[in-house]
Amino acid sequence: MKAAYRVAVLASGGGTNLQALIDACRDSAPARVVLVLSDNPKAGALARAREAGVPAQVLADPADGRRLTEALGSYQVDLAVLAGYLKLVPRDVVDAFAGRMINIHPALLPSFGGRGMYGHRVHEAVLASGATVSGCSVHLVSAEYDRGPIVAQWPVPVAREDTPESLAQRVLTFEHQLLIAVVLAAARAGGVVRLVPRASGFGPTVDLVPASSESRKLGAQSRTL
Ligand code: GRF
Repeated sequence: MKAAYRVAVLASGGGTNLQALIDACRDSAPARVVLVLSDNPKAGALARAREAGVPAQVLADPADGRRLTEALGSYQVDLAVLAGYLKLVPRDVVDAFAGRMINIHPALLPSFGGRGMYGHRVHEAVLASGATVSGCSVHLVSAEYDRGPIVAQWPVPVAREDTPESLAQRVLTFEHQLLIAVVLAAARAGGVVRLVPRASGFGPTVDLVPASSESRKLGAQSRTL
């Protein structure tokens, strides 16, 4: 039996994306959440980790790349997932995890992303723009906020009567499914692979497949993409 793909989740907030991953990565799933890290000692994500029996640590200094690299290394992490993590990852850690660190963002990057664009600010900007479609994106982490190569995206309709809260809630349900699809595909491929929506169209569940057969693990391409 192949060892499970070891996933660490970094989260600053409530941790519903973390919870979705914990719930999806158990039993016969090819991935496991083995570590949760947070810059915020009060993060709901830490409580979720404790509840699920997943080791969790608070990063006293999120800018301390050595400490972060040590924590990820000591748990033999294969993939680091930023899920509502609000701190910039130090450059040396981004380099050490090139192609093996992803972030989920509640909009269709590169639109509505970058420094300061998080939480409700994103959805307020989408509504202010008049966009009729928003969505969510998973991308490889680079040294700049929300600027790494896109791994997978999913569109989410904007309703005329939407508020930032109602749009955030709708997008969040698709984030959970997109993130699970990306992590399980990476576990099966042994590395992050790009996912594209299947022709079956926009349905209630996220239905994604690895990009065409010649697509290599993004880890190898991450520097060139
Ligand atoms: C999500 O919308 C995620 O895209 C953004 O922060 C939010 C985290 O939500 N980066 P949660 O803590 O996973 O519930």
